[in-house]
Parts: sequence; C-alpha cells; structure tokens
Amino acid sequence: MKLNERADQVILHVFKRFKIEVDHGQGVYLIDRNGKAYLDLLAGIAVNALGYNHPAVNEAILRQLNRNLHLSNYFVQDVQLDLAEKLIGLTPFSKIFFTNSGTEAIEGLLKLVKKWGQSRGKNEIIAFEGSFHGRSLGALSITMQPKYQKNFNPLIPNTQMVPFNDVSAFTNAVNENTAAIFYEGITGEGGIRPVSDEMMKAFREVREKYGCLVIADEIQSGVGRTGKFYYYEYHDDFTPDAVASAKAMGGGLPLGAFLVSPGLENVFDMGEHGTTYGGNPLACAAGLATINEISKSVFLQQIVENGAFFKSHLLELKDKYPGLVTEIRGRGLMLGMEMLNPDFAQTALNLSILKGLIFNIAGDRTLRFVPPLIINQSQIKEAIQILDSVLSEIN
Ligand SMILES: Cc1ncc(COP(=O)(O)O)c(C=O)c1O
Repeated sequence: MKLNERADQVILHVFKRFKIEVDHGQGVYLIDRNGKAYLDLLAGIAVNALGYNHPAVNEAILRQLNRNLHLSNYFVQDVQLDLAEKLIGLTPFSKIFFTNSGTEAIEGLLKLVKKWGQSRGKNEIIAFEGSFHGRSLGALSITMQPKYQKNFNPLIPNTQMVPFNDVSAFTNAVNENTAAIFYEGITGEGGIRPVSDEMMKAFREVREKYGCLVIADEIQSGVGRTGKFYYYEYHDDFTPDAVASAKAMGGGLPLGAFLVSPGLENVFDMGEHGTTYGGNPLACAAGLATINEISKSVFLQQIVENGAFFKSHLLELKDKYPGLVTEIRGRGLMLGMEMLNPDFAQTALNLSILKGLIFNIAGDRTLRFVPPLIINQSQIKEAIQILDSVLSEIN
C-alpha cells in the first residue's frame, strides 16, 4: 500500500499532502522512494535553512544525543544557555523564553501583552488582514483569515483586524486602549506581502503617541531568511518590543522562542509561564549549530545576493508571461510569484512537481519560494528553467 493511502486511513484529514513519498533529503534536494530528485523550494515550510543532512547540524545533534535528550527547565542547561546568549548577542533584546513551536511563542507573547496591558488599562490587540500567527485559540484570534477562524468563535476578545498596509485605517484603529500590534514583516501564509515603509513609520508613531507594544512575528521571516538575521533590521530606525521566532531556529527540530526588550523582562512573575519541552537540549544543539552558520555576515550576504538573483529571474518570467503572472514579491530567499488566479497557481504547482520542483501556494494564488538558505545560483537557475517550462505549458 502506498504511504499516502496508509496515511488516509489513520491520520486526520487536515493536510493536503503532495503525492511524493520521500526517502531522504540531501542538500537542497529531496529524493523519493524511486530515486527521483526534487529541488526543494519549500524546505519543510521555511525550516530546513541549511538543507538536509548538513554536517554541522548532524554532528551537534549526535554530540548532544550522547549526553542527554531532555532534562526539563528545572535544570540549567548549558546548550540552551549558549543558544540564548547567541540570540541575545545578535539582537537588541535582553531576555528569551524558549518554546516548542512558533504558535507557542505567540501564545506566550499574548499572555505577556495581556498582563502588561492590564496594569495600564490597555486591553486591545491589533493584527492585520491576511496574517498568520498560528492555530491555537490564542494565536488563531490574531490570525486574521476567515477560512481559519470561522468555525471557532468566540475567540479571545478585544482583537481587531486592520486591512493590510492601510495606514489610515491603522491609525484610526489605534487608541489609548491598544496594548499591542502584532505584525509579520513579510506575511508568509498570507502570500509573501511585505509591510510597507509607510506602515513601519506608522508603527513608530503610534507607539510613541499611545505607548503600545509593537510585536514582530519573525517565525517565518527570521533567522536569515531575508538576508538579515531578523527582517526588522532592514528598518534602521525601528526595533520591535518583542519578537517571536521559530522554524529555522531549531535546525529541523521543534524549537521556538520569544525575545523581549528590557522593559518587558519582568512582566511575568515566577511560575506564571512555563513549558516542559521548550528549550529542549537536543533542539537547542541543532539550533545553535544552525544559527552559528547563518549569523555569519558572509552567509547573510550570500542570501542577499542569491535572493536578488532569484528575484530578478522571477521578474523576467513575469515579463515573459504577463497573462499568467501578476506580481513578484518578497526579499532575500522569501519570495512569491502571484498568479492571475488560483487555478493557474495550482496547475503551476502540479506541473512543477512532475518536473522535479517543490514549493507550495500561499494565500490562494501565490507560489511561495522559501528554499534552504544554502541554495546556490546554479540551483536557482535550475528552478527558473523548470518554472519557465511550466509557465510556457500553461500559456
Ligand atoms: C508567521 C508565522 N507565525 C506563526 C506560525 C506558527 O508556527 P508553528 O507552525 O511553528 O506553530 C507560522 C507557521 O507557519 C508562521 O509562518
């Protein structure tokens, strides 16, 4: 029986799976059970930043595996501390809390915002149309997409959705009661849409005027994905009050975190927040090996260059197929190709997979490219050639 058929029998039907049955991964390729190689521009949904089977990550995992797998946060853990110090050294934040996932990082921040706001009479949270912050009930409350929220109301109260990049709607929505604004610098699931410079300026202004918190969800855009360690670094004069991180930070193992600025480090009292697995040493070892590599300036510079190379070729495809492709968006190695309609997007994906190229669709019609950050220009050319032949077939 095929693996997909077995999965249909025992696993809840909530994932639309590819038909590919993967045997193993190597570098930027996945190899199926028949030996066919696929160039992987999905990378485990922006997780496998160093690709598959990276020696530094594998060695770090094996070293930790032979020491201990799990201790719990009742113990101080050297590898967890090494990672915490590394992340704090790379950012303006002063304290970190480790989680198992991105969603849990958002949950922790929602609790922090609630408590921080309570003592200041602020209880409203703003998030943006098309956002994606996770699927637990708290994170879902600020995932402003009807398709995810509609059957789960009531969600947590006092959240408000503001249209994306609409500065005047945003400034009208913020007031003295606003506790926090959650934003993705570039939306991931929502379709690779960068927040505009005008909007970033508005974040700064409302924070100054009303004293609210601005919280960056860098779960997808962070850890080098766009060519900066965190995407907010592209905006010189803006630092969020806290950041949520996950995906690539665990090097393929489940790990997330939220980092807070000095003003927020004492919001929680002892015992008010916690986790059993968060900051698990095996995940931290993999994360540290990954981040040691990604945070090197030459590595980040390579992402900038390869991202620009990839984007310029996608723009050429847009010019070549104006009846199919409407827009190219994103930065670094977080890029999107918006198709004229969802059918074109789905057909492009199906044909690409047949030709050995993997990616997925974000929003309803945007081809999302979040490859391993180690991808090189000849592999990017290979992807472009496949996309070119796919688009010419649809045209
Ligand atoms: C921007 C963003 N926030 C939050 C999440 C949720 O993270 P996780 O799936 O690790 O819980 C995701 C996952 O896709 C994401 O892209």
